[in-house]
Amino acid sequence: MVDLSTEYLGLQLSSPIVAGSSGLTHSVENVRKMAECGAGAVVLKSIFEEEVALEYADFLKSAKAGGGSGQQYFDYEGRKNPIEYYDYVIREENLAKNIKLIRDCKQAVDIPVIASINCFRQSVEWLSYAGNLEDAGADALELNMFFPPTDFSRSSADIEKAYFEIVESVTAKVKIPIALKISHYFTSLGPMIQNLSQTGIKALVLFNRFFSPDFDIDQLEVKPSFVFSTPADLAISFSFFAIMAEKVDCVLAASTGVHDGDAVIKQLLAGAAAVQVASCLYQKGIDHIQTMRRRLEEWMQRKDYDDLSMFCGKLSQGKSHDASIYERVQFMRYYGGKKNVNLPY
Ligand SMILES: Cc1cc2nc3c(=O)[nH]c(=O)nc-3n(C[C@H](O)[C@H](O)[C@H](O)COP(=O)(O)O)c2cc1C
Repeated sequence: MVDLSTEYLGLQLSSPIVAGSSGLTHSVENVRKMAECGAGAVVLKSIFEEEVALEYADFLKSAKAGGGSGQQYFDYEGRKNPIEYYDYVIREENLAKNIKLIRDCKQAVDIPVIASINCFRQSVEWLSYAGNLEDAGADALELNMFFPPTDFSRSSADIEKAYFEIVESVTAKVKIPIALKISHYFTSLGPMIQNLSQTGIKALVLFNRFFSPDFDIDQLEVKPSFVFSTPADLAISFSFFAIMAEKVDCVLAASTGVHDGDAVIKQLLAGAAAVQVASCLYQKGIDHIQTMRRRLEEWMQRKDYDDLSMFCGKLSQGKSHDASIYERVQFMRYYGGKKNVNLPY
């Protein structure tokens, strides 16, 4: 028997495979099944400030279209107008649902339950949300942070600064360990990851993935697309893990493109302490956690590895025999002629 346990966010996990935040982690039944299938932890679906803001914007639009009276809401619980009241109701309802989910999950499973907040703009909301989720019993908090690079009013320095300011205020507010989940859309990704790892957070989750729009060329419309990742997306986080593993002051968790046990093994070899999965659970079912676990166990047995510490980070840039391979980002060799590689042209 091999030992799959790992330390992540200062918590002892029985397995490095973590169910990442998604619609699947928004129900107690699914979370229970994930635990039964051998997930080391679950990250609950994020509270989306963006969703709250959109719902609020819709309300604002319809209130204005209808003359903006909404008298029935006036003076409700001390709130002076319907907009203020509605804003309050949306936030409270959202929060109440999440608090109940955390409490129910904590009763249902004995693996760590990690709450998640999606931060898409700077606001004081994170602080109160974070405190409420901690009080509800979350074992840790994942901040899913992203400021759209399409905001023309902010410089990259402004956007980067916002990450540090939010992390500073949330780490000062709550005692539970904090993970920060980021995208790879930074000008200087390496230094940004390193600097963020020194802020007092306990883990960085690399990387988040976003939905991309597609075009319907018959209807001439923009449509949503590419909801799920593919195994090829593994490369995005994989090489960064290997490069950053020895350059950060917190642990790293992998996210994006992990669809099978081999991908879990690769991320562990690159230096991940935990590996999050989402798309593959939608596509192959929650049971797929068991399949990935089995593959990891078989591989470890074949390699005579008793526990994860015997191979985690073994192929990171710092430990690899050919560290320079991680710096070769251009295709020089491939452009040089047919001689060196098996290209069909
Ligand atoms: C349908 C769906 C819903 C998601 N919802 C969230 C969410 O609420 N919060 C979050 O941080 N990430 C969310 N994600 C992103 C995943 O946690 C994950 O970072 C991303 O999908 C990449 O991992 P994967 O390749 O295993 O899917 C969602 C992903 C999917 C596919």
